[in-house]
Amino acid sequence: MALEVIVLAAGQGSRMRSRFPKVLQKLAGRPLLQHVLDTAAALAPSRIHVVVGHGADAVREAFADRGLNWVDQSERLGTGHAVLQAMPAVDTAATVLVLYGDVPLVAEDTLRSLRAMAASGPALLTASLDNPAGYGRILRDANGQFSAVVEDRDASPEQRALREVNTGILAAPAAQLAQLLPLVGNDNQQGEYYLPDILTLALERNIAVHTAGVGHLLEVQGVNDPFQLAQLERALQLQQAEALMQAGARLADPARIDVRGALRCGRDVSIDVNCVFIGEVELADGVSVGPNCVLEDCRVGADSQVLAMSHLEGAEVGAGCSVGPFARLRPGTRMADSARVGNFVETKKTRIGTGSKVNHLTYLGDCDVGEEANIGAGTITCNYDGVNKHPTRIGDGAFVGSNATLVAPLEIGDNGFVAAGSTITRNVSSDELAVGRGKQRNIPGWKRPGSDKEG
Ligand code: UD1
Ligand code: CA
Repeated sequence: MALEVIVLAAGQGSRMRSRFPKVLQKLAGRPLLQHVLDTAAALAPSRIHVVVGHGADAVREAFADRGLNWVDQSERLGTGHAVLQAMPAVDTAATVLVLYGDVPLVAEDTLRSLRAMAASGPALLTASLDNPAGYGRILRDANGQFSAVVEDRDASPEQRALREVNTGILAAPAAQLAQLLPLVGNDNQQGEYYLPDILTLALERNIAVHTAGVGHLLEVQGVNDPFQLAQLERALQLQQAEALMQAGARLADPARIDVRGALRCGRDVSIDVNCVFIGEVELADGVSVGPNCVLEDCRVGADSQVLAMSHLEGAEVGAGCSVGPFARLRPGTRMADSARVGNFVETKKTRIGTGSKVNHLTYLGDCDVGEEANIGAGTITCNYDGVNKHPTRIGDGAFVGSNATLVAPLEIGDNGFVAAGSTITRNVSSDELAVGRGKQRNIPGWKRPGSDKEG
């Protein structure tokens, strides 16, 4: 049977106190809704419907390219009403899975088994909570068979003492949903059309209702305010850290790492505290990353070291390299094997050849450095004339002395030599020395200016 997923995301999330709709708030760098959509997509549904209301335009725009069916729920009349709005677009032969845009961590396996249970009747995902306040409680008969969900506000004190709750997530044959949803009333404390009421209606029609308990409570944790979001973030980060460590990575502290994307580590990779990995990051065997580094969309080759406080974005670092401390590699930086970039060095669209060193206080932009070259402290490529960017090419074995200003476009040939303190505006050929600075004058017997005042 085909699967269709309906994601409820019409809520305002007013407790987030944000300009942005709740489902666009980020968890591990991705909007809450994206987590749900990615998990849903893994089940290969024929369609995903998203019910939107508050901030609908922003949500649509954020996910415009995913081929979703958007369903407007302009009035929030309850979860049953929300699902009903999507039903006209659902194939009656399908199984429907209802998910929530603000419950981001539900697991694929959990949903697979729920779907399988829902072949002939509704299947509800439940959880046992120490503090069930606010949730709908699961009522069971003397035989332990499910009989109803009663909302917190509608529950009696005895019912409120029950700890098994409705997670909200359910699966059901579409034909049954289409039949039962219009029968749901709103005669309750909130005056809402409750989705779980279809379960009681099903039982009344001799349709069996199944329930399944959730594996991990994190899976059904919703986000209502910034604190809950942060708690979920830490819990997810700890899970990711554990997975990395099970795969062999050494984290100085699994509670002090943030992975916002995909981090792949080879063997014997070590990561010190407070590092943030964004997008796709690959660390090859033996890489070590010092404390307080940020790596975004980077690859670092075997046995390279990224030292403390370095920021790498869109960079490719070869094997046996050293980066930092306090280095900034900007997009388009390519370091060949055994190259070194030291403290307070910024690079952008720059290739640094095998074994070359850029050790201190330097800016290289739109620059190509050959092999075994040395770029002295304080070297600056003047790659921008205010209108256009220009390239600098520095040959193999070249030596650029400290505090050189290289005005691009510029070429320095193999083994070219630039004297310290030079401003270089013309090309330097191979094996040439370029000196571009005022000549030193020494004035013997010079007296310092004296004071004008007497005595
Ligand atoms: C709902 C369940 C409750 C369950 C709890 C789990 C109902 C009636 N109650 O309660 O049994 O324990 O979830 O968290 O289903 N939404 C819409 N449109 C609406 C109403 C809600 O899209 O008209 C969306 C909300 O954005 C939210 C979700 O549905 O993501 C749940 O709605 P909410 O009002 O928070 O339900 P609860 O009262 O928490
Ligand atoms: Ca409610």
